[in-house]
Amino acid sequence: MPGQPGIFTSKTRFELAKMTAQRIDGTAVAKSIRAQVAQRAAALTAKGNQPGLAVVLVGDDSASAVYVRNKIKACEEAGVCSVLEKYEASLSEADLLARVAALNADARIHGILVQMPLPKHIDAHKVIEAISPKKDVDGFSLMSAGELASGLDGFKACTPWGCMKLIESTGVPIKGKHAVVIGRSNTVGKPMALMLLQANATVTVCHSATTDLAAHVRQADIVVAAVGRRNTVTGEMLKPGAIVIDVGMNRHPEGHPNAGKLCGDVDFESANAVAGYITPVPGGVGPMTIAMLLSNTLDSAECG
Ligand code: GUN
Repeated sequence: MPGQPGIFTSKTRFELAKMTAQRIDGTAVAKSIRAQVAQRAAALTAKGNQPGLAVVLVGDDSASAVYVRNKIKACEEAGVCSVLEKYEASLSEADLLARVAALNADARIHGILVQMPLPKHIDAHKVIEAISPKKDVDGFSLMSAGELASGLDGFKACTPWGCMKLIESTGVPIKGKHAVVIGRSNTVGKPMALMLLQANATVTVCHSATTDLAAHVRQADIVVAAVGRRNTVTGEMLKPGAIVIDVGMNRHPEGHPNAGKLCGDVDFESANAVAGYITPVPGGVGPMTIAMLLSNTLDSAECG
């Protein structure tokens, strides 16, 4: 009976059942984008113009080696020709710039990705700017960043572009929503804010000097956490029903029940009880970066 203490009425059970967020399945969304890429790649290949991506890895950073391997594998699965160029950490900046120039001139290559971070003696900005704007499938160049800031078509940075696809996958219109982006990196936070703005959200960008993060997050219909620190966002900071996108890739520390396991910037358990939609880590934003890289490569190949 309604109101009777200790008894769950069916209405109460329904409300309880609603108290977990819908999971945004990044693996499934990425799979569908990769399937579309494969179709587009097959159509181009049939016309004698197989799309090609060059991936350049300098040095022996183990995380970079894993990322690069995953990119090459994804190319193979989608029918995109991949060219992997691996160099010792001692490669000079001039030699790397010469390799980029050669790839710019190679008609079989439609996208060039130089894996970051680069060894300290190489100026990453110089290398990014050396990539032809027509092949900047990472979307990191000043030209691509400027196009995004100006609302023009151009290559969009893969991780925030993937986040946009995840938000769109909920079916909730972005227009008029208040979005809070936590983090202001050139590769995620800033482009994410611009993409949300372009989609007619009202956007707040929070960062390490923000004085009351919780007060901002509480206003948000859409929260994108991209700071690289676990538990930055907790359930009590969220507006009920919010869309929560977790870009973080951290590990639980020693002493935690899940020590060593991957976690994001959001405390999943508490956020899951308040949010309307939430991305898990792993299986949320992570798979989208490569899917959008392939999609950008196809955009490039279809243009040229
Ligand atoms: N290092 C980590 N993520 C990325 C990425 O998306 N692109 C490049 N070029 N380097 C990275």
